[in-house]
Amino acid sequence: MTKDPVVFDNPRAMRAHAADLRRQGLRIGFVPTMGALHQGHLSLLDYTREHCDHLVVSIFVNPLQFDREDDLSGYPRTWEADLAACAGHGAETIYAPTPAVMYPEGYQTKVSVTELTRGLCGAGRPGHFDGVATVVLKLFNTVSPHLAVFGRKDYQQLRMIQRMVIDLDLPVEVKGRPIVREPDGLAMSSRNTHLSPQEREQALCLYRALTRAESLVRQGRRDVAALKQAAQDEVAAVAPARLEYLEVVDQHSLEPLAVLHRPAVMALAVWLGQTRLIDNMELNP
Ligand code: PAJ
Repeated sequence: MTKDPVVFDNPRAMRAHAADLRRQGLRIGFVPTMGALHQGHLSLLDYTREHCDHLVVSIFVNPLQFDREDDLSGYPRTWEADLAACAGHGAETIYAPTPAVMYPEGYQTKVSVTELTRGLCGAGRPGHFDGVATVVLKLFNTVSPHLAVFGRKDYQQLRMIQRMVIDLDLPVEVKGRPIVREPDGLAMSSRNTHLSPQEREQALCLYRALTRAESLVRQGRRDVAALKQAAQDEVAAVAPARLEYLEVVDQHSLEPLAVLHRPAVMALAVWLGQTRLIDNMELNP
């Protein structure tokens, strides 16, 4: 039997609840999301539930991190299904504030992690990572988790948050978890629902690009230019796909590498019609 989670829609009530949990000596685990939950999100819930006493999930489509109005207004919202999924995966508490409560009249503060957010997705989405860092800090302050869990699907986001936690002395442990994929390899994403059947097929070029590079690494290739070329060829083979970026970077600093002599990650962003997809794979020489 699953118990319905308790839902809070404002920071004051959420904070009081979290303080109460802490007084009881419970370890709070936290998974921040924008809803439209899929197996990728649910894998984070399951992991977090196992490693804490009380699981809090936030569901908030954060306007501050959207750089396109149509992306924000078209973002999938599936509240009832999300609630049921959270209940089914052990969430005791849901925090679902409104934009008006998060950013009331007069709001003007933001957080910026400057270096890690310059390249990759940061280059093409101005303001995006400031929006993410700001909302995650606000959520951490309200939920006061002991453990917060993020997906490696958003690799740059994970590294940025780990940096923020160190830089701002936040008392929370941050964990990154593996990418959950569809059986054919497409990384699960709330935005996949925007793809037409044809685009869904074409979207496999991201995974093909990454696995091509990975297999070259396994064969001993270390020159990044060659790895990038092979991966780019996979994207170029799908005519409607537009490559926004494809990079091989250090796993921690996210600095571009010329030679694969330490743990790296290949990351790319591809447009199919109006939909932007991202994916990545760790390359370990
Ligand atoms: P959202 O895109 O809803 O993702 C919530 C969490 O789920 C993130 O940590 C993301 O990396 C993870 N996730 C998404 N798809 C995944 C997949 N296929 N496999 C594993 N994990 C996956 O990321 C955000 O929301 C927002 O930026 C947020 C952190 C909530 C701040 O607004």
